[in-house]
Amino acid sequence: MNEIFLNFPDNRLKNSLTNDILLKSNSLEYHKTLEEYAETPLYDLKNLSRELNVGKIYVKDESKRFNLNAFKGLGASYAVHKALSLYPNISVFCTATDGNHGRAVAWSAAKHNKKAVIYVPKQTTDARIKAIADHGSEVIQLDLNYEDTCQYASNISKKMNWTLIQDTSWINYEEIPAYIMSGYLTHLREMEDSINTLNNPDIDIIFLQCGVGSWPATCIWYYINRYFKKKPKIVLVEPDESSGVLQSLLSNKRITPKGNLNTIMAGLNCGIPSMSGWEIIKNGCDAAISISDEYAKKAIRTLYYPIKDDERVISGESGAAGLGGLIKCLEVNKFNVLREHIGLNSKSKILFINTEGNTDPENFKSIISSN
Ligand SMILES: Cc1ncc(COP(=O)(O)O)c(C=O)c1O
Repeated sequence: MNEIFLNFPDNRLKNSLTNDILLKSNSLEYHKTLEEYAETPLYDLKNLSRELNVGKIYVKDESKRFNLNAFKGLGASYAVHKALSLYPNISVFCTATDGNHGRAVAWSAAKHNKKAVIYVPKQTTDARIKAIADHGSEVIQLDLNYEDTCQYASNISKKMNWTLIQDTSWINYEEIPAYIMSGYLTHLREMEDSINTLNNPDIDIIFLQCGVGSWPATCIWYYINRYFKKKPKIVLVEPDESSGVLQSLLSNKRITPKGNLNTIMAGLNCGIPSMSGWEIIKNGCDAAISISDEYAKKAIRTLYYPIKDDERVISGESGAAGLGGLIKCLEVNKFNVLREHIGLNSKSKILFINTEGNTDPENFKSIISSN
């Protein structure tokens, strides 16, 4: 099975520490104080929407965020800021990452003149390691997968009295991940003058790429809180080979996914979903699908080679996965039931978020040149 549909429940989200922290977020106000802050662009790809026979395709381009080539700085900077306001004597931050989050933690720690120790799993490429190390942090590659690298970073942080800034939560580790999620709210609030309009959204469907699920859960939380039953339909997209959320939804419990963890979508190549992200996702997404690497590549090329005067968007393997999911939904015949379930038709206004640029430049070059 590589798809599932869900019915939106009648109840609002449960009270939890994560919910409380998200409700109190002032991330947009905080981010505006940073010298690198600028609202990221929202493009309307008019010609692509005509070509795909849908109403609108909007893309919010987070590759432009804080000169970090990915959205992850939103979460890490807010969590580091919150941690330091609670415990000003912190000297070392630590995290596990498949690339983007680690770079964001390294950047955030350096802003406060703090040390960062960043652990990466065995499949992380040299380009991603260098991008993290360039912010002055120590990067250590382990012979482990992502999930086990998280466990390692958690254990060593406890032992060394470092502060773990992890973008996924588990039992007794919820507060920092919730600050990270609160930081992600910034890019959603930036769209309140354009498509996240008051009372009713000016979009019908959102495709969100999913790793551990913290980021898509934040988006779901935002749309449920702002619009409740009038929220846009939300479709989650994961790699075929690493689909922790889809497999958890199919099993009705949070599980480590089966699969060979072999995908070019490095940022989505995670294990078990985040505990607090899972609670939100299972109550608020409308469908989840998985895609092969070929769809991610197709989406990268679609954005890189725009039609007529559409904007060119530089999108990495994970950043383009949302569009890859839309393309698959439109192309695959047997997805007709899914299309009906989410109301995907020639009038649909669709949003996806380009969560990263060419974070692995060599791979990006080879994808765009094999047209
Ligand atoms: C580029 C990119 N997009 C999306 C995601 C998904 O976020 P999450 O792991 O919170 O589901 C990630 C995670 O690292 C990422 O790097």
